[in-house]
Amino acid sequence: MDKVRVGILGFGTVGEGAYRMLMDNQAAIESKSGIGLEVVRIGVRDMDRERGAPRELFTRDLESIVRDPDIDIILELIGGLDPAESLIEAALSHGKHVVTANKELIAKQGHALMRRAASQGLDLHFEAAVGGGIPLIQPLKHQLAGNDVLKLMGIVNGTTNYILSKMTQEGRAFDEVLQEAQAAGYAEAEPSSDVDGFDAQYKLSILSSIAFGGEVRPEKIPTEGIRRIGARDIDFAKMLGYRIKLLAIAELLPEGILARVHPTMLPRQHPLANVHGVYNAVWVKGDFVGDVMLSGRGAGAFPTGSAVVGDIIDICRNIRIGGSASVQPPQEGLYVLSIDQLRTRYYMRLTVQDRPKVLGIIAGIFGEEEIGLRAMEMRELNDGLGEIVFLTHLCQEQNLQRAMARLAATEVVACVENWVRVEEESE
Ligand SMILES: NC(=O)c1ccc[n+]([C@@H]2O[C@H](COP(=O)([O-])OP(=O)(O)OC[C@H]3O[C@@H](n4cnc5c(N)ncnc54)[C@H](OP(=O)(O)O)[C@@H]3O)[C@@H](O)[C@H]2O)c1
Repeated sequence: MDKVRVGILGFGTVGEGAYRMLMDNQAAIESKSGIGLEVVRIGVRDMDRERGAPRELFTRDLESIVRDPDIDIILELIGGLDPAESLIEAALSHGKHVVTANKELIAKQGHALMRRAASQGLDLHFEAAVGGGIPLIQPLKHQLAGNDVLKLMGIVNGTTNYILSKMTQEGRAFDEVLQEAQAAGYAEAEPSSDVDGFDAQYKLSILSSIAFGGEVRPEKIPTEGIRRIGARDIDFAKMLGYRIKLLAIAELLPEGILARVHPTMLPRQHPLANVHGVYNAVWVKGDFVGDVMLSGRGAGAFPTGSAVVGDIIDICRNIRIGGSASVQPPQEGLYVLSIDQLRTRYYMRLTVQDRPKVLGIIAGIFGEEEIGLRAMEMRELNDGLGEIVFLTHLCQEQNLQRAMARLAATEVVACVENWVRVEEESE
């Protein structure tokens, strides 16, 4: 074969970014791939829009691209499940290698699609699905694969990191910063996928499935977003030496894998606590390599396009030597644990009656639930009320949840205002 032919499905932010890189860096890409490369068809919905590629490449008939016998690699850059899933299936059944940036599809159907690709000796790559331009999937699949991954933690959603960074730096409320992020194009008009944590859940499902060598399905990942984080909690976090980040966390415990997405208080000096704005980062602890941190731009046309092009080059090299090399055989029997089995530290903020013996009653409930307290701050509020903030020692999630329910039902506690899980540097 003298040339690899590429068909692109979707020419939005990522599709156009990848195309630009293929055109601008063509000579270097071909020399690194060891083979010529040509984009021969591009599928879109709207044929009237001005595009940064020759008009004759475009079609609305995406089916014809995945069936085209002259095309070797399909880039699926549409997003969502439908029609992306059926188009990828059709591309594989017509013997084409596939590159996709589609986190939702890979999180939900990636294992079935990978089995199908492997059974046909085809490559299915998705580096761009997590962390935009940051190399994450390939390092986990290859360079770090000899390690038992003990834990990984990531800031994998730029929108929530931008909002939390602004709230922290400027002391502003969530709603106000969200509106500003929407106006600046950093947040979608319908922000739920980002702010409620689902985008991070899909990405953690992909990362942890690869890191731990099994299937960690998205619905098995308890997920909480950042809507309940207030300026007051951010202030307390600062005072206590922490920053609040939306973290995707997965760890290897003796009983199985525990994966979760939620706002987390991190010590100010932790490398992830210093990843700000739209940047993403993933920190991995391997049994032999120790700590590794990968960071960079988690979205955008060129960073994401760069990850897509890296996958294309990998496939071109495989085509040149006549094989596919990158599908990881899935491991059976990976057990995903419930969040009840989590043992961590917690921050809790209560509004209480400001009168004698209140602290004793609250401390009694913590004691009965075997929760040790390691720090406390109190403030007087108006109208006979006070505010108390606690940091706990390591304790079991289910004990913490039981203690919160009991505190909420106690007459001396006016309100359990908020609570946040805490990660410490050494864990
Ligand atoms: N944007 C990022 O920074 C980023 C980062 C990482 C991963 N991703 C992932 O990359 C993928 C693409 O995202 P994007 O931001 O590039 O999306 P986008 O800008 O909305 O572009 C989507 C493209 O797909 C085409 N399309 C959508 N539905 C179609 C249909 N039913 N039939 C034919 N064409 C259809 C659109 O055609 P028209 O142009 O004609 O409307 C458009 O060209 C998604 O899976 C996303 O999660 C994006």
